[in-house]
Amino acid sequence: MTLGMTFGVGLQGLAGNLVTIEVDIADGLPAYTLLGLPDASLSESRDRVRSALTNSNEIWPNRKVTVSLSPAWLPKSGPSFDLAIAVALLIANQTLPNCEGTVFLGELSLDGKVRSVRGVLPALLAAAKAGITRAVVPTANLAEAKLMVDLDIIPMQSLAEVLRWLRTGERAEAEPLDIQCESDDSFLDFSDVAGQPRARLAAEIAATGGHHLLLIGPPGAGKTMIAQRLPTILPKLSIAQALEVTAVHSIAGTLGNRAPQSLLAPFVAPHHTTTRVAMVGGGSHVIRPGASSLAHNGVLFIDEAPECAAGILDSLRQPLESGEITIARSIGNLTFPAQFLLVLAANPCPCGKFSGRGRNCTCTSQQVRRYLGKLSGPLLDRIDLRVIVDPVSRIEMAQNELGESSAVIRARVIAAREIAAKRFASESWKLNSQIPSRALRTTYQPERAAMNFLHDELDRETITARGLHKVIRTAWTLADLHRHEIATLADVKQAYTLRDGVEL
Ligand SMILES: Nc1ncnc2c1ncn2[C@@H]1O[C@H](COP(=O)(O)OP(=O)(O)O)[C@@H](O)[C@H]1O
Ligand SMILES: [Mg+2]
Ligand SMILES: [Zn+2]
Repeated sequence: MTLGMTFGVGLQGLAGNLVTIEVDIADGLPAYTLLGLPDASLSESRDRVRSALTNSNEIWPNRKVTVSLSPAWLPKSGPSFDLAIAVALLIANQTLPNCEGTVFLGELSLDGKVRSVRGVLPALLAAAKAGITRAVVPTANLAEAKLMVDLDIIPMQSLAEVLRWLRTGERAEAEPLDIQCESDDSFLDFSDVAGQPRARLAAEIAATGGHHLLLIGPPGAGKTMIAQRLPTILPKLSIAQALEVTAVHSIAGTLGNRAPQSLLAPFVAPHHTTTRVAMVGGGSHVIRPGASSLAHNGVLFIDEAPECAAGILDSLRQPLESGEITIARSIGNLTFPAQFLLVLAANPCPCGKFSGRGRNCTCTSQQVRRYLGKLSGPLLDRIDLRVIVDPVSRIEMAQNELGESSAVIRARVIAAREIAAKRFASESWKLNSQIPSRALRTTYQPERAAMNFLHDELDRETITARGLHKVIRTAWTLADLHRHEIATLADVKQAYTLRDGVEL
C-alpha cells in the first residue's frame, strides 16, 4: 500500500477550510473511489484527472485507487481539487516526491492544462491561516493570488509544468504580470458632468455621510453618469476592504470586470429585470454572492428602479439593515458581506418625459403618482436623499468650463468623514446615515433654532416624523462639509430642500 498526500481548500461562502487529500493505491481490481462529501462536479474529477494525466504522459495506476478528502464532514464542491488530487495520486504511485506545506488549487482540462478557478483569494486566506506557506495556483488567477504577500505563490499553466517543478525544481520565469496596487483605475470623472449642481451636491453628500440616494429625472439627464462616478469621490478602499471586495468577486467569478488589486470602491448595476438570486445571492447548485455583495464597500445602482419586479427591491432590506446577507441552505447557512451605498434612479413617470416643466408627458397625474409609488415602503425609509434631476440645458452643455473634478470632491468627502469619525469615536457607527433614531432625539439634535424650524414643519404637516430624521442625518453631513460643530438652521434648511419635497 502506498499513500500520497496534498492540500486543497474547501470554501463555504467566503470561509475556507484546509482540506487534506489522501490517495491510497492498493492491489486489487482497478477501481476509483472518492470519499468525503464530494458534489457532482468534484466527483467528475476522476475523468478530468485521468485524461489530464494520460495526456501529460503520466501513468494512470490500473489498480484500486481510493481518494479521501478530509475533514470528511465538510461538504466539498467544485473542480478546484483536480490538481491536488492528481499530484497526490502520483505521489502515491511513487512517481513524484512528497510535497509538504503546499496547497494546490486548479481545475484540470482533459489535455492537462491548469484552468482558473473561483475563490482563489479566500482559499489562500484560509490556507495561510492554517499554516500553509506555498501555493500552486492557475496562472490565470495570479493577480488575485499575489495579493497574499506572505505566501510563496507558484503560478502554473499545465499539469506537466507542475510535475516538472516538483521533480526538478525548475519553473518557468515568473509571469511579468504587473500587479502594483492601482489606486485609481477609473477614467470616469465628475468633471465630465455638466451642470446639475443639485445632483452633484447630492452625490457628494451621499458619499460623505453614506446616505442612500434616489435620483428622479427623465432619460438622458445624467443620472447614470452621476451614479457611475460615485466611486471616484468615495474614499479609496483600505487594503483590508479591497481584499474583502476581491474575495467576493473571486467567488462570484466576476474578477474579469474588476482588477483584483483595485482600491476603487466597486460599482455594480444590476438590470431592473434581475432576479432575487442575482440581487442578493443564492443558487441551487453552487451558491454565489449577488449584486448586493459584489457592491460591498461600494455602490449598488439600480436604474429604472420602479420597473423592478415585486420583491426584488425588498430583498435588499436585510443587507441594508445588517450589512450582510445570509443564505440558508440545507447544509448550513452562508453569509456574505453586503454593505453598500444604494443609488436608485427613476423616471418621473411611465413615459419618462415628465419634468419640472411638464412638457411632452402624456401620463395622467394619477399614473405619475402610481409609478413612483411603486418605490414606497420600507426600502424608501432607508433613503435619505431624493433629488429631481432636470434635463441639462443647452447652455450648460455648451459651457467650456469643466465641472469640479472627482479628486477635489473626494478630498472634501474624506475631510468631512474624518470629522464625523471623531464625533462618533465612542459610538458603534461611523457615518451620519447610521445615527439611530433615538440618538437623533438626544445626543445628536441640531441646534435649537433648527429644531424649532423642524417642529414647525411637523406642525404644518409638511414633513413626517420619519422625514424629520432623514433631514437631521443629512444636516449633520452638511455640517461636517461646512465645518460646523453642530447641525445649524442653515444645514437643516438645506437638507430639507434637498429632499425636493418628494414625499413618497
Ligand atoms: N449633465 C450632463 N453632462 C454631460 N453629459 C450628459 C449629462 N447628462 C447626460 N449627458 C449625456 O447623455 C448621456 C446619457 O446620460 P445618462 O447618464 O445615461 O442619463 P440618464 O441615466 O439620466 O438617462 C451621457 O452618456 C452623456 O453623454
Ligand atoms: Mg440611465
Ligand atoms: Zn409621462
